[in-house]
Amino acid sequence: MAGTSPFDLTGRTALVTGANTGIGQGIALALAEAGATVVAAGRSDMSETLALVAQVGGTGHALKVDLQEQGIAARVVAAATDLAGPLDILVNNAGIIRRADALDFSESDWDEVMNVNLKANFFLAQAFAKSAVEAGRGARIVNIASLLSFQGGIRVASYTASKSGLAGLTKLLACEWAARGINVNAIAPGYIESNNTEALRADPDRNSAILARIPAARWGKPSDIGGAAVFLASDAAAYMHGAIIPVDGGWLAR
Ligand SMILES: NC(=O)c1ccc[n+]([C@@H]2O[C@H](COP(=O)([O-])OP(=O)(O)OC[C@H]3O[C@@H](n4cnc5c(N)ncnc54)[C@H](OP(=O)(O)O)[C@@H]3O)[C@@H](O)[C@H]2O)c1
Repeated sequence: MAGTSPFDLTGRTALVTGANTGIGQGIALALAEAGATVVAAGRSDMSETLALVAQVGGTGHALKVDLQEQGIAARVVAAATDLAGPLDILVNNAGIIRRADALDFSESDWDEVMNVNLKANFFLAQAFAKSAVEAGRGARIVNIASLLSFQGGIRVASYTASKSGLAGLTKLLACEWAARGINVNAIAPGYIESNNTEALRADPDRNSAILARIPAARWGKPSDIGGAAVFLASDAAAYMHGAIIPVDGGWLAR
């Protein structure tokens, strides 16, 4: 039922994890504006996101889910399908970060980050792709990677490992599933104003060092990421497989 624009998502259904705030909320809103029905999944209240979706004339559903939970992925895909019908788009956005020097990094800060940023994303993609393959439906997966899918960073060992892993996983899944009509790609946001970067923005030295390196000379906003997500979810990206697109104000170009 897509309209004439190849970017139109009318009639499509999208599951977005971590959609209550930050980049996930920005993506949920952009997908809704493009016409998709959105299932906003996460562990916190989704009412702000659902209100924003309604404001642009979209349809949204909330799904309570804690991605630290073992074996959760198939249940999330089934519950989202019950709410909104067969899913066309999965945005693996939920993610956490823990900061400590590598010499002091704890096993729990390693495991918790890996569970949400890498393991949950893989098993959500698997459950989502299984339902699409069984139904003979094409589908789109958009993973939210990071600049630390390309760079090392400092004091974020598990985060860098998870996001570098997610870049590899994006390419592997793209290779396995491209011929089955499932496009798997990723967006690598630069430095975006959200809870994730609150500590960096609160540190005057880190804040000015980061700003000085961004060609666009400003932090990004969650809404800056929405356009790339709409593109990757749409027919316009039909031949995109395994790409990791930086949306970073020029950071990686520097
Ligand atoms: N901000 C940046 O500069 C930046 C740059 C590159 C990549 N990213 C990535 O972008 C994604 C979104 O981050 P953000 O910047 O928007 O930060 P954020 O505001 O902290 O959002 C993270 C989201 O993930 C959810 N989440 C965390 N743990 C979860 C769990 N166990 N179960 C379900 N949901 C969970 C959070 O829910 P709660 O609100 O309930 O905690 C929140 O909705 C992450 O993958 C992050 O790594 C961010």
